[in-house]
Amino acid sequence: MDQATGTVVLQAGRTSYVLRLDGTGSTVRQIHWGPALSVAEAATLVEPEDGRDSFDGGTDAREEMPVEGGLRYGVPALEVRHPDGTSSLEPLLTGHGIQHGPDGSRLVLHFVDAGPEGTRDLAWDLHYRVRRDSDVVERWAVVRNTAAGGGRPLTLLRHAGGQWTLPTRAGYRLSSVHGAWSEEFQLAGQPLAYGETTLTSRRGHTGHQSNPWVMLDAGDATEDHGEVWSVALAAGGSWRTTVLRTPAGHCGVVSGAGHEGVEAVLEPGEELTTAVTAGVWSGTGFGGASRAWHTYVRRHVLPAGGELRPVLYNSWEATTFDVTEAGQRELADRAAALGVELFVVDDGWFGRRDDDRAGLGDWHPHPGRFPDGLRPLADHVHGLGMAFGLWVEPEMVNPDSDLFRAHPDWVLHHPDRRPSPQRHQLVLDFSRPEVAEWAFGWLDRTVRDNGVDFLKWDFNRSFSEAARRTGGTAARAVHTEHAAGFHRVLDRLRAAHPRLRVESCAGGGGRVDLAVLARTDQVWTSDNTDAVDRLTIQHGASQLYPASVLGAWVTDSPNPLTGRRVPLRFRFHAAMAGVLGIGGDLTSWTAEELAEAAALVGVYKDVRPVVQHGEQYRLGSPGGHGRAVLHVHEAAGEAVLLQWRVGGRGRRAAEPLRLPGLVEDADYRVFEPGEPPEAARVVPGRVLAVHGLAAELPQGEYRSRLLRLRRL
Ligand code: DGJ
Repeated sequence: MDQATGTVVLQAGRTSYVLRLDGTGSTVRQIHWGPALSVAEAATLVEPEDGRDSFDGGTDAREEMPVEGGLRYGVPALEVRHPDGTSSLEPLLTGHGIQHGPDGSRLVLHFVDAGPEGTRDLAWDLHYRVRRDSDVVERWAVVRNTAAGGGRPLTLLRHAGGQWTLPTRAGYRLSSVHGAWSEEFQLAGQPLAYGETTLTSRRGHTGHQSNPWVMLDAGDATEDHGEVWSVALAAGGSWRTTVLRTPAGHCGVVSGAGHEGVEAVLEPGEELTTAVTAGVWSGTGFGGASRAWHTYVRRHVLPAGGELRPVLYNSWEATTFDVTEAGQRELADRAAALGVELFVVDDGWFGRRDDDRAGLGDWHPHPGRFPDGLRPLADHVHGLGMAFGLWVEPEMVNPDSDLFRAHPDWVLHHPDRRPSPQRHQLVLDFSRPEVAEWAFGWLDRTVRDNGVDFLKWDFNRSFSEAARRTGGTAARAVHTEHAAGFHRVLDRLRAAHPRLRVESCAGGGGRVDLAVLARTDQVWTSDNTDAVDRLTIQHGASQLYPASVLGAWVTDSPNPLTGRRVPLRFRFHAAMAGVLGIGGDLTSWTAEELAEAAALVGVYKDVRPVVQHGEQYRLGSPGGHGRAVLHVHEAAGEAVLLQWRVGGRGRRAAEPLRLPGLVEDADYRVFEPGEPPEAARVVPGRVLAVHGLAAELPQGEYRSRLLRLRRL
């Protein structure tokens, strides 16, 4: 920190995030977020004027925590209603602290709400964390009702962790994902409109329709070049991200848990910690931003990010609800013969779950299908050398279930409104301690009694009638507090079963976010297993999330959802770009298909450390006929190129694939798995980088290949 100018420089990996503390103590502004600067350099930065003396001004432009109050007209990150109805705050910076520890460096800025007649019962701290090995800056706030006992509650109308400000540019482009069930993570970039652009979920979960992150650039960044600023939110319930662009030239992002009208009440002495927002600056385009996110997720978000994810088999597409012990044993035998490492029994093993109309909530083995319980199947799977996994949907209940008959009041509902079942199910209120206790109890028992190694935790409907029965101002806080309850159950379960691994699923990719990844190991990316559609879905998902969390199954052809017929090899190659799984009906695969599948599972295991833990470079475009992804594991001296072409080969020659991320002054042996070593070519890294690799795939539709590159 430079005391004379009040300049604080946070060094996050290769980047600097620079703050300037105002001499009056009323505000803190961000004055640089980009390439690394020294403290001496940062002290020379000139703060842009805020134009407070004109109609166009607003003192909240560039402010780290814009509140409601004063000459502020942008998006407040903190909006509070005092007991007397006042909601205009006067921030006063009362101090700051800097700590350096093993998990990075932290800055805390302390504020109070100080009116002319003294301090009101409201204080907030802004927290920052940066690490040497990550370009990500993490931010959150802690808001406190400082009234003593006998004081009055405060209402938080909005509580985001702060504002992220972009440097002034002539124009801005906003990139984000939108989607639907079975069509998640569709990437779109468009010029940022003047005004406020809001991405949100009012569903109580992250949602298929959007995902809580944005990338912004000046309209000139590409996959490999240019500056990109990205902000992601670590919240699991309803959320809201607003990107603000003013005609006066300010561009900022405010992102937090909860949507409009979701209020939280702070009783005297209580405090609330906002969801963390994380930000990345990249000087190497969207690809660079994604790689920074991937490294961060693997190193600092996932509970076991250093592990390799196993090849799994999941029975859902093969059997849907028609789950029997004999049928699962047969699938397990076939899966084990392919080299599968984890066998997961999906929906249909419990209660009277013969279809989606009944049984959710009754978490004991289906009496007709597993008369002796799950243990015999679990033992069989373990005996085959595989781990045993189970599908669960703990937050849901069918009205036709013993649980609902016993506890009809446990669901989210308004007492005098008709409930709106979706998929014949209602949502259990996980913010209620007794509901969370019940869920932990049966989950803990089921995992322990059956030697369960893996849970696929599903969530198949959005909130409706979402209020807590306590009513009052905070009734809708269940939109965020349900997710907090879900997180607590998961944290407790993992603590009780340290070897348990968990997949997050919400009808596919409806609950993928940094908060759920902090307590799970992978996600079910989409219910759409069509390999061609998956290339687009994976392209969008990979903007933020690493390959090591994106579950991808090889299923039957024609695809049950889309009817598209795609060769097995292409289906495998698409799934091998993530966490490989198999989800087809193996009883219908031919001997040749099973043999080819076993060989490809073997190849995946060989290249898995590179795919899951390497740096990812997206090449080609998802819409085009040619697509490729390069995974580079520099420490291992290995790279893996996966390449696909959907349509037939056109008359025009394919562009050579220039391969970034390799060591230019080293030679690489380039070979296809199974090729005799003498067939391998040796190519200098520099040639691969600047000239490229011939990218022509053979004639015909749906051609693909996997190439390995080994540094000599
Ligand atoms: C939705 C999931 O995404 C599917 O994979 C499957 O588990 C079904 N739910 C089961 O009901």
